[in-house]
Amino acid sequence: MPKLNICKYGDQILRKKTELVAEITEEIKELVSDMFETMYAAPGVGLAAPQVGISLRICVIDVKLDGKSNPLAMINPEIIEGENKILAEEGCLSFPGMYESVKRFEKVTAEFTDLKGKRVKVNGSGFLAKAIQHEIDHLDGKLFIDYLPDFKRKAAEKEIKRRKKAGSW
Ligand code: CO
Repeated sequence: MPKLNICKYGDQILRKKTELVAEITEEIKELVSDMFETMYAAPGVGLAAPQVGISLRICVIDVKLDGKSNPLAMINPEIIEGENKILAEEGCLSFPGMYESVKRFEKVTAEFTDLKGKRVKVNGSGFLAKAIQHEIDHLDGKLFIDYLPDFKRKAAEKEIKRRKKAGSW
């Protein structure tokens, strides 16, 4: 199976709100499988469809729990509950090598359609909660640098510009 190309910050697709998935077809299942493969190869713990150039409401996450893989494929996900905001560092495959502290819920409940077409819920805390919120944001065209205070976001953008010039973005 071919690995997909990951779009970096600056690509307009990352800012587009995605379309809902109408039906879990074989193509959707194949896309999810390719997204997992691309995410593991990166390596990363989460990947959203816009990051591979596809504007659909799909994301994949695998945050290891007790050292065990815990793959989560979320179709049309929504956060339905969150509690207690905390500041924690995170990165993004569309921002290689950049890590920033972002304030997010410590615990969340999300609802999504699984690959069998069933609407299910997932509760996440800690790292998993962070990944769920980060990936669902991607589906709304929102990126982690949007949460930074102005001076930090400007510094990050400047660094990206510098790297683009140097051909390393
Ligand atoms: Co990301």
